[in-house]
Amino acid sequence: MKNKDLNRRDFLYQLGLSSAAVSVGGLLSACSFPAALISNSTLNPPDIELALSASPDEVQIFPGVKTNVWRYQGEVLSGPANTIQTLPNSYLGPILHLKRGQSVRVHFTNQLTEPSIIHWHGLHVPESADGHPRLAVAPGQKYIYDFTVADRAGTYWFHPHPHGRTGPQVYNGLAGLFIISDDEETALGLPSGDYDLPLVIQDRTFDDDNQLYYGSTNMMDQMVGFLGDQILVNGQPDFSLSTENRPYRLRLLNGSNSRIYKLAWDDGTPFTIIGTDGGLLEKPVERNYITLAPAQRIELWADFSSYKVSSHMRLINLSADTPGGVAEFSILSVNIDREATSTSVLPEQLSSITWHQEADAVNHSAPRDFILSMDMGMVWNINDRTFKMKDVAKDEIVQLGDLEMWRFTNAGGRGMGMTLPHPMHIHGLQFQVLDRQIDQSMENTWSTISEGLVDEGWHDTVLVMPGERVRALLKFEDFSGLYLYHCHNLEHEDMGMMRNYLVEA
Ligand code: C2O
Ligand code: CU
Ligand code: CU
Repeated sequence: MKNKDLNRRDFLYQLGLSSAAVSVGGLLSACSFPAALISNSTLNPPDIELALSASPDEVQIFPGVKTNVWRYQGEVLSGPANTIQTLPNSYLGPILHLKRGQSVRVHFTNQLTEPSIIHWHGLHVPESADGHPRLAVAPGQKYIYDFTVADRAGTYWFHPHPHGRTGPQVYNGLAGLFIISDDEETALGLPSGDYDLPLVIQDRTFDDDNQLYYGSTNMMDQMVGFLGDQILVNGQPDFSLSTENRPYRLRLLNGSNSRIYKLAWDDGTPFTIIGTDGGLLEKPVERNYITLAPAQRIELWADFSSYKVSSHMRLINLSADTPGGVAEFSILSVNIDREATSTSVLPEQLSSITWHQEADAVNHSAPRDFILSMDMGMVWNINDRTFKMKDVAKDEIVQLGDLEMWRFTNAGGRGMGMTLPHPMHIHGLQFQVLDRQIDQSMENTWSTISEGLVDEGWHDTVLVMPGERVRALLKFEDFSGLYLYHCHNLEHEDMGMMRNYLVEA
């Protein structure tokens, strides 16, 4: 059953342009693919050595014809065998389970017909391991990553990052979770094993032969980004969970190219949130609904213990003033069909977080400003610039060790009528969201999602709504080099809404 109520054109009211006025200009960006740069291997053997390949495959998503996909497949070459967990019947890559402090070497082989490179989204890794598009390797080539897992326990992920082709490559199936654990988290006794469940939410469109359909010849759709008419969870349509009546830890990733979700339980139960992009919060927080932008993760304490066995609930998407967000639709269903055999108690205190706010530097430094807008050629950009492989402007150079305030302002289409949300992502670090300010003229749109924003804790992606200004605090630690910041609407990113920043030692 396909979700035909998801109308990908219902956002056109926001756009004051006729498609005739739009030029194709900036959409087809020329890519240059330098020779593979292989990172230096460390002297000691790593704790874990993995092989990961990206290759064409086919999976049974619907009855009948199988669906052609691109898929990451993994193998443990050395280290614990349970580092890799494969999701059954899914195009998604394996879930990688790592512990903070472990050293990892990943041998990536590109078995696609076009260049690719893996980026570890959210991880604090050296420049050589960050998967910058200039490091993309040609078909048949390898890239070796060496890094130490430095991040807090949490839900991270990995996906391709070749310039101009990230959207289609992720869309074809290339994405996987990277789950980190650490001692602080283990001591909490949160639900684990069968009670700790990943939920990757994506939208796709399939043709009558069960094949993925990407893109549109309609220029307006391309400016907005891809919106599918079918929701998949962990790569499967009509997804349902079968649970005991006890607490679960649910790890949600919005792995969609462009779609922003406004998630809620259909019976009105509020969410108890325990983690964000960069791991556990200090304490659990509640929301009646959650606004989850592309690339963002949220971790829930979902307690089904007050439900009788054989009750059901659904995770739904509420309507909002976002692209494709007008209709309400179902994400997944939960069938509470077994009596609990054990339980678990929600800790009052989850983790300790050092707040950047407390540092003096914040009060004394001017923010670094980033204006998100669209140029006359209908290309999304940042400070009037689009992506160039090695370009760094003077105002994109930061100093290693510095704490900075970055201010993103969503200025929309500068009177051209196009206003869209931009989920802004910064590579190489986790940041803290200081505050938000919304322009009065856009307050109505904003208020359809604002109560679902979760700004607590650590983030690598923050949603900047039309007319909104968001301030974030970031610190450049340990690694110098060239990193990216960009809109994680993958169509915007591919169109050039991405820039380098340089960390200078
Ligand atoms: Cu998840 Cu540069 O991206
Ligand atoms: Cu990233
Ligand atoms: Cu964007």
